[in-house]
Amino acid sequence: MANFTKATGIKDWLNQRLAIEKVEKVIASEYWIPKNINFLWAMGMILVFTFKMLLISGIFLMMYYQPSVEQAFDSVNYTIMREVDFGWLWRHVHAVASSVTFLIMYIHMFTGIYYGSYKKGREMIWISGMLLFITFSAAAFSGYMLPWGQMSYWAGMVITNIFSLGGLHMDGLVEWIRGDYVPAQAFLTRFYMLHVLLLPLAIIGLMGLHFAALRIPHVNNQDGEEIDFDAEAKKYLDGDKKGSKVMRFANDFLSKDMMVLGIFLIFFFYLVFFNYGFALDPVNMDKADGLITPKHIYPEWYFLWSYEILRPFSTNVGLIAFGFAQVIYLFLPWLDRSSNAVAASRRGKFKIWFWVLLIDMIVLTAMGKLPPEGIFSTIGLVAALVFIALWIILPFITMNEKKV
Ligand code: HEM
Repeated sequence: MANFTKATGIKDWLNQRLAIEKVEKVIASEYWIPKNINFLWAMGMILVFTFKMLLISGIFLMMYYQPSVEQAFDSVNYTIMREVDFGWLWRHVHAVASSVTFLIMYIHMFTGIYYGSYKKGREMIWISGMLLFITFSAAAFSGYMLPWGQMSYWAGMVITNIFSLGGLHMDGLVEWIRGDYVPAQAFLTRFYMLHVLLLPLAIIGLMGLHFAALRIPHVNNQDGEEIDFDAEAKKYLDGDKKGSKVMRFANDFLSKDMMVLGIFLIFFFYLVFFNYGFALDPVNMDKADGLITPKHIYPEWYFLWSYEILRPFSTNVGLIAFGFAQVIYLFLPWLDRSSNAVAASRRGKFKIWFWVLLIDMIVLTAMGKLPPEGIFSTIGLVAALVFIALWIILPFITMNEKKV
């Protein structure tokens, strides 16, 4: 038993039992952040904010949502949108936050790629980040099923069909996932459970892992400078705050984060009140009907790039290309053979690789939304081939990169 003394106050009482001063130092006042980072390093905090918005709005939506194939559609489009006071507001917040989370996640990922923030002890940050991306994708997909509209039903059908693995005809696996021959009540109930319980829990756990993975290597910086964090932290604590290359996470860096978050909030609430339509598909305003297939089935914008990698090929080749696209980002820390954790602008061929990849992802996204006809299907095919080629050549172009 530890030696407890009479506490001088509540803080001291808690400190003796929970070591709150030590915890506060580890996660805030002695969590050192480099000074030379720009607004792109605020994206992580914005993601924490959008996730909180998803949780809060989701809890309000759950109070009226009915997970049954007879009532789900009306509970969303009638009860929540028309009958419940401000139900529309929570739905707009939830839909916009889910879409914007992906936008910020892509910016955050590409910032990491641009600055090489997945190297030299930061691999675990990257892996946990990618696991967050995959879990968020599963959460978005399962949430999309819940209003039980035409797009929910048919996107559910198309995506679960992927598990038949083309020529392998694993139809039993598809039925096992659906709990039925077609999406029906068992399907809706299990996706509801995944969306409101299992996946949010997994996301919270993975966020913990992501933050823990950041603690030892610290965040990278825009100059790719190798900072001696212990020496710089000592300088700061000894009073040379100006000369030190680092600052405290709280409240120094946090105040910078809050500035970027403030600007983001203007954009976020502009979308919630005036431009929410992009996050709510009009086809999903019709109730699910297993007898009427929509003319053109497409996923939400953030899945379009990987959908476009599946589409231009024959079934089996398309599935292999799609599987490749889903996992390849995870291996980035090992496919990039250079040890330079600096901005892509200083990395010769990698700079070209980075911009071609980014533009290719945008082209794939644009083509994924259009019907696969004529010139669009040719552009889609070329963009899909470029995507695969880019990842195959990456180890070769980075192998002999000059040390900067
Ligand atoms: C909701 C999901 C996520 C949250 C809440 C989150 C949060 C954060 C935070 C707070 C930071 C530190 C500050 C910053 O650089 O922004 C960070 C850094 C980082 N995250 Fe994420 N992140 C998420 C998803 C991802 C994804 C999808 C990836 C990509 C694989 C990723 C990769 C990274 C990397 C590489 C860093 C280190 C940046 C550096 O060292 O400069 N994160 N994340």
